[in-house]
Amino acid sequence: MATTSADQIFKEFREHSAAQFFKKNRQMLGYSGQGRSLVTIVHEFCTNSLDAAEEAGILPDIDITIKRIDNGTGISRYSIRVGDNGPGVPKSFVGKALGTIFAGTKFHRYMQQRGQQGIGAAGCVLFAQITTGKPIFIKSSTGKGAAYSCRLGINAATNKPVITEMRDLDEDFRGLVIEGEYADIRYEAGEHSAYEYIRRTALSNPHAQIKLTDPGGQESLFVRSVKELPRKASVAKPHPAGLSANDILEFAHASQSRKISTFMIDTFARTTQNKISELKAVDGTIDVDKDPKQMTWEDAEKLIGAIHKVRWIAPDASSVIPIGEAQIKVALKNILDPEHMSVTERRPAVFRGGIPFVVEAAVSYGGNSGRKVEGGYAGNVLRFANRVPLLFDTASCAISKAANDIEWRRYNIDMDTQPVSVFVNVSSVYVPYSGVGKEAIAQEDEIIDEIKLAIMEAARGVQHYVRGKEQVAFNINRYKAIARYVKQLSGDISDLTKADRARIEKRLESIVSKRFPKSEEREREKGQEEER
Ligand SMILES: Nc1ncnc2c1ncn2[C@@H]1O[C@H](COP(=O)(O)OP(=O)(O)O)[C@@H](O)[C@H]1O
Ligand SMILES: [Mg+2]
Repeated sequence: MATTSADQIFKEFREHSAAQFFKKNRQMLGYSGQGRSLVTIVHEFCTNSLDAAEEAGILPDIDITIKRIDNGTGISRYSIRVGDNGPGVPKSFVGKALGTIFAGTKFHRYMQQRGQQGIGAAGCVLFAQITTGKPIFIKSSTGKGAAYSCRLGINAATNKPVITEMRDLDEDFRGLVIEGEYADIRYEAGEHSAYEYIRRTALSNPHAQIKLTDPGGQESLFVRSVKELPRKASVAKPHPAGLSANDILEFAHASQSRKISTFMIDTFARTTQNKISELKAVDGTIDVDKDPKQMTWEDAEKLIGAIHKVRWIAPDASSVIPIGEAQIKVALKNILDPEHMSVTERRPAVFRGGIPFVVEAAVSYGGNSGRKVEGGYAGNVLRFANRVPLLFDTASCAISKAANDIEWRRYNIDMDTQPVSVFVNVSSVYVPYSGVGKEAIAQEDEIIDEIKLAIMEAARGVQHYVRGKEQVAFNINRYKAIARYVKQLSGDISDLTKADRARIEKRLESIVSKRFPKSEEREREKGQEEER
């Protein structure tokens, strides 16, 4: 058999850029399926607008317009325009921020924001380019005299932005407008639509005002229902218990401190001189006076070993920003207008030993809760991570797992037949997503347990109301069944006794309605409602 030499094989050796990688693996960014791809684009720009406005201390106003373009080729294309009133992107950063994969203001800061990886915006630019060959249009201003517009593409081979048609504008506004043309996407209706994504975004962000104009020209305005901004995200220090040897090593090598002891006290949460002494007491071979830049893998492993043997105060959870019970109530009322609801906010908890998170849950009944199915209603689970709605990858998500584990019958709830919505938001500086597309929360035990407790607490709050509803429905049905016999029975009795039939019927009716008070009335009301 002829063999091939390594020299031959390695003639094919190449390095690849991040842009090239995602060009080939676009499904990893959420570009799989035409309906989902469209939602991904809306999601990326929308989360960026919300993050930017909040960081700048501005109440977000977001305007989204989706249009179908018919260019005569028969291939359907869409233009998607997202505009915001946020801080804008400085002209000198526009290429780096929006046209470079793995670049942004968020990845390196340990703070709670929707974006994490610096892939979203550039991913959209790349997707526009590979499906239509067109750069996207950008218009932005950071304040007076700073307005500009340009077109932006990506050189996939180098992961470098390609800016063309840069112009200064004589316009007075602040914010960012991005308009792109995309193919291989489709505007759909239903549970996985852009409309539903925006509706849920409004539900978890009552401080934002969002307008969506769909390809049919239909405008939906989700008004701001709360006038305060969420608390500003602060940079959190990582807690030692959540660190790996690799983490410590990376932090150490980037540190300006001269000793490992001061480096650790400065860099990590809950780390004091006393704790350093405790670590030394656990393992006498640890040298805390060493230069952190000289830290080796063995040093890091020894430190981690000692860290796990020492008791730590739980991390400070002030960096975690939940939506808040009052705000969730306002938002639910505004959008779902339920007959009854119950909201719970759990106290901060910790996963992987050192990462704080907070779970909020709500259960609502009636109004626009649940979803319409043939012949009635069914329950639905509205999943959120850091206020971002998660519409896809349902099966692999910790929230779905927790909701499925609940014994709903114990709370008189039937998720198959009742108009019930279960709302769950998980907030954390570091949400462990199960993939780069960030559509599901990884099924970590501590997180699932907290979600279950939160849902159960909320479910208890609607339990009595639902039982009352069920009792009424049950009585109405029995009343209807018995009332059917009254006519027949009064005829038969009248035949036997020769007494007046109308009188007997009246008497029987009065006995039945005494036994089921109000059922008759409710039945009549229901009849009228249905007629309307
Ligand atoms: N609407 C916006 N307003 C201001 N800055 C923005 C906006 N959208 C994106 N940016 C900037 O561009 C960067 C890159 O965005 P993106 O690629 O989505 O990554 P990420 O959101 O994960 O940081 C952001 O970190 C932010 O600095
Ligand atoms: Mg982003």
